[in-house]
Amino acid sequence: MNGAVFYASKYGSTAQYAQWIGEATGLPVFNVEGAPPPESFDFVVVGSPVIYYGFLIEKWVSEHLGALEERPVVFFSVSGAGPGPKLDAWIPESLPKSFVAHMRHVGLRGRQIPADLTFYDRTMLIIGGLKNPDRKAGQEELKGFDYMDQGSIGPIVEMVRRLQQREVA
Ligand SMILES: Cc1cc2nc3c(=O)[nH]c(=O)nc-3n(C[C@H](O)[C@H](O)[C@H](O)COP(=O)(O)O)c2cc1C
Repeated sequence: MNGAVFYASKYGSTAQYAQWIGEATGLPVFNVEGAPPPESFDFVVVGSPVIYYGFLIEKWVSEHLGALEERPVVFFSVSGAGPGPKLDAWIPESLPKSFVAHMRHVGLRGRQIPADLTFYDRTMLIIGGLKNPDRKAGQEELKGFDYMDQGSIGPIVEMVRRLQQREVA
């Protein structure tokens, strides 16, 4: 089957993961702004960062929900919080129920460089960091972090390889 990677990214780390997945699998990679419709492919890999407890790609997913439900979807999230209860809670709060039920999810960890942020985001993250009862997460909001790890795309590449070997139904 033929597939493609679709992503949204605010500061570039999700774009970097999408690029790595494209290089490892041979799939074309598209920023959702100006991308072809998902109907053009038999399966899709969809990537999004978590920004303020929600997914940046939420609107695009809602707009293309019908097409996404009709083909296999591998969804990768990129966030400060790693896989765990926080991420598990944000997924159903910010993505359509039928999409969540249909897709297979892999959680990746991203990067946040304070000097790169807009004034608004930097200010919001300083306030959030000072108020966060989870002190480690609070320090990361204040000082930034870099968990980018090319090796962590392994499970996604594996899922894509299996989909590429499948015949179109
Ligand atoms: C404004 C802002 C809000 C964020 N909100 C969250 C959040 O609610 N939960 C979380 O785990 N990470 C959060 N992060 C961390 C991002 O998910 C992480 O930096 C990610 O790598 C950004 O992806 P991008 O570079 O593709 O935009 C936030 C980052 C920024 C800049």
